[in-house]
Amino acid sequence: MEKKSKPTFTVTTPIYYVNDVPHIGHAYTTIIADALARYNKMAGRDVFFLTGTDEHGQKIEKAAAEKGLTPRALADSVVGRTLDLWKALDIEYDLFIRTTMPIHEAGVQKVFLRLLEKGDIYKGEYKGWYCVSDEAFLAEDAPLGKDGVKVCPDCGKAAVVVSEPTYFFRLSAYQEKLLEFYESHPRFVRPASRMNEVASFVRGGLKDLSITRTTVRWGVPVPGDPAHTIYVWFDALHNYITGTGFDWDMERFARFWPAQVHLIGKDILRFHAVFWPAFLMASGLPLPECVFGHGWWLKDEAKMSKSRGNVLDPYTIIHAFGPDPLRYFLLREVPIGLDGNFSHEGFVHRVNSDLANDFGNLVHRTLTMIQQYFQGRLEGVDAEREDDRALREAFDSTRASVRGHYESYALNKALEEIWVFIGAANKYLADNAPWKLAKDPSRRGRLARVLYQAACAIRGASHLAAPVMPASARKIWDLLGESTTPQEVAFDAFGFDGMACGQAMKAPRALFPRVDLKLFLAEEAGKPEASKETRPQSAIKETTMDVITIDEFKKLDLRVALVLKAERVEGATKLLKLQIDVGTETRQIVAGVAETYAPEDLVGKRFIVIVNLKPAVIRGVESQGMLLAGIKEGGKAVIPFFEGEIPAGSKVQ
Ligand code: MSP
Repeated sequence: MEKKSKPTFTVTTPIYYVNDVPHIGHAYTTIIADALARYNKMAGRDVFFLTGTDEHGQKIEKAAAEKGLTPRALADSVVGRTLDLWKALDIEYDLFIRTTMPIHEAGVQKVFLRLLEKGDIYKGEYKGWYCVSDEAFLAEDAPLGKDGVKVCPDCGKAAVVVSEPTYFFRLSAYQEKLLEFYESHPRFVRPASRMNEVASFVRGGLKDLSITRTTVRWGVPVPGDPAHTIYVWFDALHNYITGTGFDWDMERFARFWPAQVHLIGKDILRFHAVFWPAFLMASGLPLPECVFGHGWWLKDEAKMSKSRGNVLDPYTIIHAFGPDPLRYFLLREVPIGLDGNFSHEGFVHRVNSDLANDFGNLVHRTLTMIQQYFQGRLEGVDAEREDDRALREAFDSTRASVRGHYESYALNKALEEIWVFIGAANKYLADNAPWKLAKDPSRRGRLARVLYQAACAIRGASHLAAPVMPASARKIWDLLGESTTPQEVAFDAFGFDGMACGQAMKAPRALFPRVDLKLFLAEEAGKPEASKETRPQSAIKETTMDVITIDEFKKLDLRVALVLKAERVEGATKLLKLQIDVGTETRQIVAGVAETYAPEDLVGKRFIVIVNLKPAVIRGVESQGMLLAGIKEGGKAVIPFFEGEIPAGSKVQ
């Protein structure tokens, strides 16, 4: 009997130019693709996720010359850094295609020859205005500037006149076929609003397209006519078929082509929704199901791009917070089709409220109580009550709608729904107040049920969010004592209470860092340019910490200290040098409290000091201990003083 094969799902990103390393805008497309690939695997499909780099053409030739490199050397170095970034962002692609790979070049030449023989490619003469930066000819009706030069309407740079013998692709022959195709496949271009834009461009008339250059050496040579190289967009678009196996692994090609979705930025919609389907029609190959044009990430209201100099380096965030907060923020903040303005304030707000407060605290509180009241193993769990069932049912309906959102690429809505459920789980805990139940030994079974239900909610929420936050979901499942990872459990096979009651759960670990906005901004502003090395670590406040035992706590020697003398530390605005009496001796400590207290405010005051801390030298001054203070937003310290008389050296416990 023939084995029934799994349904497939092929998702692609644009292939990125190698004139520079990717920024947050490029990371965005790749993260969307990764989340869709991960979801589809969990939905039981055989997934092929293709990404890569666009390495030929004048733009790369020029960028390499400016850097004194060969195009190949530039491409190799940028590709290396791109691969590092995808790794840091937890991107699990199946194939990274480079247009300089022989499998790709051969495939492009094969298509070229096929269309030449068929008559869809023919030789002629082209004269027109060309934008080198965008690698595109300007429309013939683009206005001529006062200086007699045409300016690229997309990037605003001066175009140049190009006149050369060229091979044309007979695009005009596909006008009607394209319009018919759009008509019968209204979901080909998404969001739907962009379909009109595409169809009206085609209705406006299509001219044949020049697809070779004699002035560019860095490209795929035209087979049999090597004075010409193939136009970079004709070359690049074909990565989608060469990457899925065309001409070198036809079995794979048959399995994974056509793609379900080409994810692209709206800037390159015309290439993907007009030229690409026409090329495929000419080759007699099936068309992709959908071209999804996402919006742009803006910085200060302008598209983030290297040429505008307003790009953000994803590493500044990844190094400080790990990949998941950035993945979550980019996918949660705006619907895929719309533009989003990237602000650090927006990022910090989301991370603190959704990740640290809502989800992080839920996980932390639940696991802490399971440790505290049951040493990590729930037992004697009472039967489910009405409100317990309500939480389970809320999860089931959340799962159904989240599934629908993932299927329709509405990732922000999927996350929104998951967080509504997290809110319900937080409310469930607050309503059932397990900390009160814990005081009544006769209610131990009920306490176990409430904590079990909360643990199931955490497990369920992380399962639903796993495509977007794979590393955090894995961590949470590990803490819950699960032996599998969330991604190994199929979306439909997941049961809310499919977790054994008595399994050993671990004490919580820090999951999502809480960020201090002012410190984060200060550190951002303080550095000349975002780079791999800069890590705004100190802006992170851990809301969730490892649980320690009372014996570990007892290792701290906390004492009441009396301030005898206080002075500023030269050259440090935040530091004071204090002489303190700790009962047995006089000590010197350095404390970061000068923004809140003048030296004279502290003399005669009593507060808590850790006296058995290893001495450290701070700004050249030795510190033999550390005082305890609360830290306000913005990093200012507030010291809790003892009001009444208490002798210096008294133990604090
Ligand atoms: N090489 C072509 C694509 C060829 S695909 C056959 C190209 N490369 S690119 O590196 O300039 O940009 C690729 C994609 O990066 C854009 O389409 C878009 O998906 C993404 N972005 C670049 N800047 C962006 C933002 N500021 N915001 C969101 N995405 C943007 O075009």
